Amino acid sequence: MSDTFNALVLDRNEDKSVSATIKRLTLADLPDEDVLVDVAYSTVNYKDGLAVTGASPIVRKFPMVAGIDLAGTVATSRDSRFQPGDRVLVNGYGLSERFWGGYAQRQKLKPEWLVRVPDAFSFEEAMAIGTAGYTAMLCVQAIRDWGVKPDAGPVVVTGAAGGVGTVAIMLLAKLGYQVTAVTGRVEEARALLEQLGASEIIPRADLARDAAPLEAERWAAAVDTVGANTLASVIAQPRYEAIVPACGLAGGAGLPGSVMPFILRGVTLRGIDSVMAAQPRRQRAWDELAKLVDRALLRAIYEVEPLARVPELGRAILAGAIKGRVVIDVNR
Ligand SMILES: NC(=O)c1ccc[n+]([C@@H]2O[C@H](COP(=O)([O-])OP(=O)(O)OC[C@H]3O[C@@H](n4cnc5c(N)ncnc54)[C@H](OP(=O)(O)O)[C@@H]3O)[C@@H](O)[C@H]2O)c1
Repeated sequence: MSDTFNALVLDRNEDKSVSATIKRLTLADLPDEDVLVDVAYSTVNYKDGLAVTGASPIVRKFPMVAGIDLAGTVATSRDSRFQPGDRVLVNGYGLSERFWGGYAQRQKLKPEWLVRVPDAFSFEEAMAIGTAGYTAMLCVQAIRDWGVKPDAGPVVVTGAAGGVGTVAIMLLAKLGYQVTAVTGRVEEARALLEQLGASEIIPRADLARDAAPLEAERWAAAVDTVGANTLASVIAQPRYEAIVPACGLAGGAGLPGSVMPFILRGVTLRGIDSVMAAQPRRQRAWDELAKLVDRALLRAIYEVEPLARVPELGRAILAGAIKGRVVIDVNR
């Protein structure tokens, strides 16, 4: 690789807006961390959309090389745990907030952030999963750890056509759960959601409304990526002692609702955070992803795009216009 390489750099303008520009960097520009990685792919997650558009103050310091995910090959390492040639990935850990991330052809990283890419996956596939898919796995593990068996009743997935939603449906269906997908794009996404294993598809408006304190029993569990009144509706419709892992806010950060489902149906609201999850949880999630993900099915949920399209794709994901996942080829 030449002495200079491409990176998408975010700068804050005088009017507080954020600009995203591809710049040529050198190794000396990178942070002084122990492991240098030749990055192959990154991704566009909802949080990346917030960062590159400046729609939310995700980025705590500028200039910032954004991108909360990356996968690539170790080039050099000052840490004995990693050797040149090792295949690694990073999800979260403050990349694109306080630390430089994956929208670069090379990046220097802390060894404690690195997860080995499972042999089952290429770099492209690992990033097709990315933070969204690893978060979906954390949600599914929370459901299984709670003891919800596939015959317990339907599991509802909100924001179904998005990144977390599509992977969650794929994983739940593979494990034998009966999956209900909630989407604002019923007709546009129906074929994909059914292909992934959803047995029922319901329109977003069925849940994105004011919920009664307690409604008819429907869900044995849920994966909620939307928050706000959608999450409140899910919580209002639990079967007895259902669990609701909540990981997202695509519909808003509020949570209007009642305590009735907690005290009368014993529902559990389980927060899911992927960013600072400890290494053993990450490793467990990636090990299980390697066992559960059908690579042919995975191919149906992502597109590969060049680094230059990240700002445009960031705007699109915030508008709810991306179906499934976007993988970024940082070398294209
Ligand atoms: N806790 C964590 O560690 C963690 C990790 C990853 C992601 N997240 C969060 O999880 C959420 C989903 O992430 P993602 O990467 O899957 O994003 P995404 O690909 O944009 O998917 C979000 C989906 O939510 C639905 N949606 C969008 N706007 C909505 C609205 N106003 N009301 C109701 N539904 C709406 C859309 O699905 P339909 O078109 O099917 O309705 C959209 O595809 C985001 O809030 C993200 O920040 C959190």
